[in-house]
Amino acid sequence: MQRILLLCLALLADAAAAGDGGRALLLPLRVQAAPANKLRFRHDVSLTVSVAVGTPPQNVTMVLDTGSELSWLLCNASTVPVRVRSPAPAAATFNASASSTYAAARCASPECQWRGRDLPVPPSCAAPPSNSCRISLSYADASSADGVLAADTFLLGRTPPVPALFGCVTSYYSASGGGGNATTNSSSEAATGLLGMNRGTLSFVTQTSTRRFAYCIAPGDGPGLLVLGGEGAGAGNAPAPPSLNYTPLVEISQPLPYFDRVAYSVALEGIRVGAALLPIPKSVLAPDHTGAGQTMVDSGTQFTFLLADAYAALKAEFLDRTREILPPLGEPGFVFQGAFDACFRGPEARVAAASRRLPEVGLVLRGAEVAVAGEKLLYRVPGERRGVGGAEAVWCLTFGNSDMAGMSAYVIGHHHQQNVWVEYDLQNGRVGFAPARCDLATQRLGSRA
Ligand SMILES: *[C@@H]1O[C@H](CO)[C@@H](O)[C@H](O)[C@H]1NC(C)=O
Ligand SMILES: *[C@@H]1O[C@H](CO)[C@@H](O)[C@H](O)[C@H]1NC(C)=O
Ligand SMILES: *[C@@H]1O[C@H](CO)[C@@H](O)[C@H](O)[C@H]1NC(C)=O
Ligand SMILES: *[C@@H]1O[C@H](CO)[C@@H](O)[C@H](O)[C@H]1NC(C)=O
Ligand SMILES: *[C@@H]1O[C@H](CO)[C@@H](O)[C@H](O)[C@H]1NC(C)=O
Repeated sequence: MQRILLLCLALLADAAAAGDGGRALLLPLRVQAAPANKLRFRHDVSLTVSVAVGTPPQNVTMVLDTGSELSWLLCNASTVPVRVRSPAPAAATFNASASSTYAAARCASPECQWRGRDLPVPPSCAAPPSNSCRISLSYADASSADGVLAADTFLLGRTPPVPALFGCVTSYYSASGGGGNATTNSSSEAATGLLGMNRGTLSFVTQTSTRRFAYCIAPGDGPGLLVLGGEGAGAGNAPAPPSLNYTPLVEISQPLPYFDRVAYSVALEGIRVGAALLPIPKSVLAPDHTGAGQTMVDSGTQFTFLLADAYAALKAEFLDRTREILPPLGEPGFVFQGAFDACFRGPEARVAAASRRLPEVGLVLRGAEVAVAGEKLLYRVPGERRGVGGAEAVWCLTFGNSDMAGMSAYVIGHHHQQNVWVEYDLQNGRVGFAPARCDLATQRLGSRA
């Protein structure tokens, strides 16, 4: 670990910064097919991190999700009816019986009173003798999971194990369909669970008193980097690029029905295509009196979603600006994953060449910007071919329509966070962004093997 730290520091750190910052923990982060778990917006690809849980430690792969609160693991293999789509590897499970530190939460415990957004119904009591706290998790795409609230130790990297509550899930239902096969084979194992990283009381971040974490997602299916802890850009041993642009986290004082107060919510001030800001009224980009229209940074969602009015403006401008280089698909009924209907067709080589000439799309936040350019703007829809002999592939703009996906928020997904250093600074209530070469960080970590 020390070697890795030094190499990463050499690469990324503003080493001049001093201070007695807390030690940061660096972990490899992978983009991989994650078919067996929360498929919140029917995406096939997730960011995952390796964690060792229990005593003795069992290795599990967890989806890193800044949009969820309670972590969960598929538990007790024999009882889990895992439904895995054909191209995907089978999911491993956590064997609770084999861990001496595993403890189910009791009904009478204060934790069992928890009512987070992830739970549509309050926890309930199992009959004696177990008296365990039964929970039912549910997500925006109608996937759901049932299990019990439990605690065990979590080990990330070579730090001391930390105890944390999680959902020990024994059955789940995943909304099927949505199209698309898993396209990445980067890892031999599918994810076993999900690491809840939002700001809620039961999230892994809150339970472990993590005040800062950051990640750098490599493009393609290569591994990236997760940094937990540390005391600020360049301080302590935490690597960071020299100049992050920060945007403040948006807080609201009163609960609103459609506003997720434990999400990483930021202020969206505009959307630009090339140099020109789209003519979208400010009111369309801000939450309304119900809380609908907040903008979240979410590592658990693959692509970026915009509310219908903003999406329509972007789609129209993008189609207009790319008409000469990118032939539209021209099939009005074609919608990828239920929300992506700005689609194109063409041979791979031609689209690759065209992608270098696409106008950059920028999500303008207060004080910072998430800029999306080139290949990140287009996604090749798996399994779709057109033209004589299937010479052409189908591509869609990697921005989707929230309303079509049944959401009432703007979501900045992990695909658009590739090659961006993203820091969640809870201490100062802000999120920082900076362009970065995440593949270089990853090479230095030596985790490609
Ligand atoms: C878990 O992973 C660590 C690090 O990769 C490895 O050393 C260990 O042998 C693994 N343990 C099991 C039980 O597979
Ligand atoms: C899994 O097995 C352990 C040990 O047998 C048990 O305590 C726990 O309740 C089981 N989990 C669920 C969700 O059934
Ligand atoms: C879980 O662990 C228990 C105790 O070590 C063992 O008896 C059982 O076979 C394990 N179950 C699975 C599915 O590996
Ligand atoms: C994934 O693996 C399968 C079988 O191992 C292979 O046929 C397929 O081409 C791979 N897909 C990618 C995207 O690497
Ligand atoms: C998924 O892959 C299978 C087998 O390769 C193929 O028959 C199917 O059409 C694909 N589905 C989609 C939605 O791409």
